[in-house]
Amino acid sequence: MDGDKKPWDPSQLRKYDLNLEEIPRLHYKDPKIDEYIKENKPVVITESNIVKPAVQRWSLEYLERNLGHSGHTVFVSRNHKFKYYDEKKIYNRVSNTKGVEFTPPTRKVEMRIEDFMKRVKEWKKGDERIYLQQSLTTTVGNNIVEDFVKFDWDYVNGKQTKHNWGPLTSNLLFIAMEGNQTPCHYDEQENFFAQVQGYKRCILFPPSQFECLYPYPVHHPHDRQSMVDFERPDYNKFPKFKNVKGWEAVVGPGDVLYIPIYWWHHIESLLRGGPTVTVNFWYKGGPSTLEYPLKDHQKVSITRNVEKMLLEVLQDPKEVGPLLRSMVLGRYTE
Ligand code: OGA
Ligand code: FE
Repeated sequence: MDGDKKPWDPSQLRKYDLNLEEIPRLHYKDPKIDEYIKENKPVVITESNIVKPAVQRWSLEYLERNLGHSGHTVFVSRNHKFKYYDEKKIYNRVSNTKGVEFTPPTRKVEMRIEDFMKRVKEWKKGDERIYLQQSLTTTVGNNIVEDFVKFDWDYVNGKQTKHNWGPLTSNLLFIAMEGNQTPCHYDEQENFFAQVQGYKRCILFPPSQFECLYPYPVHHPHDRQSMVDFERPDYNKFPKFKNVKGWEAVVGPGDVLYIPIYWWHHIESLLRGGPTVTVNFWYKGGPSTLEYPLKDHQKVSITRNVEKMLLEVLQDPKEVGPLLRSMVLGRYTE
């Protein structure tokens, strides 16, 4: 079909040994969108005006002129992976005993937007990669603020109300180099992931696949991240990763991907596709009433709380695993 012709081709996607199905794409007025959101299932919302002013105006040149001239938060990586870590969970001999020893895989720097754009333009293979990730609610220039207030807030607020989400916590702006990757993790928030410029591939897994994705312990700086390297999965350490079944979408300008709370997501800007721009909308989850049967993401939340409680009383992360083992082995493993 001609109408299906895509502005990218499969050679721009990294190859993964994964069983993937396509996330449906629905016109923003399609009432079925609400069924997906209600059931905590991902969906791509097309042709909406959610971030239309940004889609129309936020070229890299426009962003360079208008984002503001204070420092912006930029992550620097020696490879294409930008794996998130929680600085507060890094071991610190002086002030806490709960952290683990850890070498951050990326470093966070403050950069002027001009310097960021220059490095993106002049980047060549072998150079460090950079990824700007900054909240839009901090100081940005007036034109950006004007575009921001013209987002289709009626639409997103309507979804927030209809689905009982909590408050909007932040809008993060992402400016990535082609090929940049955010490895697989989950967030404890509902997310409208609005693509503004360029194309990103998003691979999602439901919270029920927790066991197949092997998240780091909650006290680890990589809490909420999968320990599995998708490019070289260690099936001896992570055998259930073979059983994982995911959902994927390539999103382009104007597409908004709903990433349900606690859903795993691995995101990468297409190879040779140029830089990409995304704005996300993070919302607190709705009030969690324990109605049975529990939802899969509620079980993940319970697991997190048990881990946190054990660490709280044991005081040493090294003691959490052995206690859980002795509690379970031969007693709950029939
Ligand atoms: C998110 C997210 C990463 C990216 O919006 O939750 O993980 O690279 N984004 O866009
Ligand atoms: Fe995320």
